[in-house]
Amino acid sequence: MQPLSVLIVGVGGLGKCIAQEALERGLRVSVLVRNEAKLEAALGGDIVAKLCKITLGDGTRPQVLDEAMSGIDVVLSGRGADPDLAFELAAAVKRNDVKKLCWPAGTTNVLADDGVTPNYERLVHLGSWVEGAYRAHGACIDAIREADINYVIFCPGRMGSVGLRSTDVRASVRINRDSGPFVSYEDAAWVMVEAATTNNFDRQLISAATKV
Ligand SMILES: NC(=O)c1ccc[n+]([C@@H]2O[C@H](COP(=O)([O-])OP(=O)(O)OC[C@H]3O[C@@H](n4cnc5c(N)ncnc54)[C@H](OP(=O)(O)O)[C@@H]3O)[C@@H](O)[C@H]2O)c1
Repeated sequence: MQPLSVLIVGVGGLGKCIAQEALERGLRVSVLVRNEAKLEAALGGDIVAKLCKITLGDGTRPQVLDEAMSGIDVVLSGRGADPDLAFELAAAVKRNDVKKLCWPAGTTNVLADDGVTPNYERLVHLGSWVEGAYRAHGACIDAIREADINYVIFCPGRMGSVGLRSTDVRASVRINRDSGPFVSYEDAAWVMVEAATTNNFDRQLISAATKV
């Protein structure tokens, strides 16, 4: 059987680690980016050479998405809080018979531990950005759900690189609850790729955290 073919849309901090994680797992990895020079700078020539396909263009353009999604099994977005991108990616996933969309949102959008209270209400003391993030991520989640596709929504706290993956990321994963305020890009990438390659988290909001 052929390894899964995945498309990463946007290669920033998270997208870079998703590409590395997916290649380490032996997946066929393609990317859609707006700027090839930035891609080279982020991944380095050795990793870029391992990519199956590089599509250059804006992920909100249907024609660009259809070109990038040809032959793709699962799409992972390296960009969130962008309702236009969520709407267009979800529509293209449906149109191109892609099996799943894995999308990054925020920890504002899972539930607090009581299983009822939206988590952003617990975080609102951190600043006015909290409600804004909740609404932006919420609009993306709504767009993805309304497209009637298979999906996983990953809801991290703050992200950043720590240079290596934790030994047991799986233990920190929670379904529709807050796992903690920080997750490394490396651990977040493990969760996104695990969501892409298994059906364990299908149609769920999930979170994960890294102990620092
Ligand atoms: N970082 C955090 O602390 C954090 C916490 C919670 C949630 N999140 C969510 O996770 C996402 C990923 O985080 P990150 O830190 O990796 O962000 P990032 O470094 O800013 O990466 C986002 C990438 O998306 C690309 N992009 C944006 N619009 C695009 C479009 N229309 N078409 C194609 N590519 C596009 C950007 O490309 P260009 O270089 O061309 O602009 C950039 O490479 C964020 O967007 C956010 O919603 C982040």
